Amino acid sequence: FKKAFIFDLDGVIVDTAKFHFLAWKNLAESLNISFSEEENEQLKGVSRINSLEKILKWGNKTISEEKFNSLMAKKNEEYLSYVDNMSKEDILPGVLNTLEYLKENNYQVALGSASKNARRILNKVGLNSYFDHIVDGNEVSKAKPDPEVFLKGCDLLGVEPKDAIVFEDSQAGIKAANTAEMTSVGIGEESNLKEADFNFEGFSEINQETIQTLINFKK
Ligand code: G6P
Ligand code: MG
Repeated sequence: FKKAFIFDLDGVIVDTAKFHFLAWKNLAESLNISFSEEENEQLKGVSRINSLEKILKWGNKTISEEKFNSLMAKKNEEYLSYVDNMSKEDILPGVLNTLEYLKENNYQVALGSASKNARRILNKVGLNSYFDHIVDGNEVSKAKPDPEVFLKGCDLLGVEPKDAIVFEDSQAGIKAANTAEMTSVGIGEESNLKEADFNFEGFSEINQETIQTLINFKK
């Protein structure tokens, strides 16, 4: 049986993808690089450094290290200006119910996010206490699709990867979970997340019965 649940943050618990989108779009356009929803999709789950590298590659641009670092700082500053206006209302539908159910039933729960802002965001929306452990972008050296972030979560929770269920909205994250032989649950549009073991539009579709199905699933 599965024993532990690992949640990605951005796009799973809160809809911060729209804030990342705004900030990356402004940055890309300041460099004359076009940036649409399609590009944004490919940056989901991708670390801040790797995201900027990708954008520059799409635009065929090379810049100095100094400029690179100042652009990353600027992007994060704009992103945080949106984040700091977040509240409980920004928790995606159904998430709180699921977290409450897992807590009441003593399941182990961890956060596995590429974001260096994860703790700040959880604080903003008041969800810190639902997580037994938090692994975020400050603690990992290899970005998704490398499974390091989820493996660290399992280590901290004391469970085998095969006993963990991962909720993810990104292609990179689903890949990471699959590589580690965890059960992968895609949240969001199924066509973007074809490799997931299960797919749901969002947590509103997930009830106690669904959780039991995930727990009993053998990969
Ligand atoms: C998540 C998001 C990505 C973001 C990454 C790093 O995985 O899906 O879009 O680039 O976190 O976030 P950060 O808050 O550290 O810039
Ligand atoms: Mg995500």
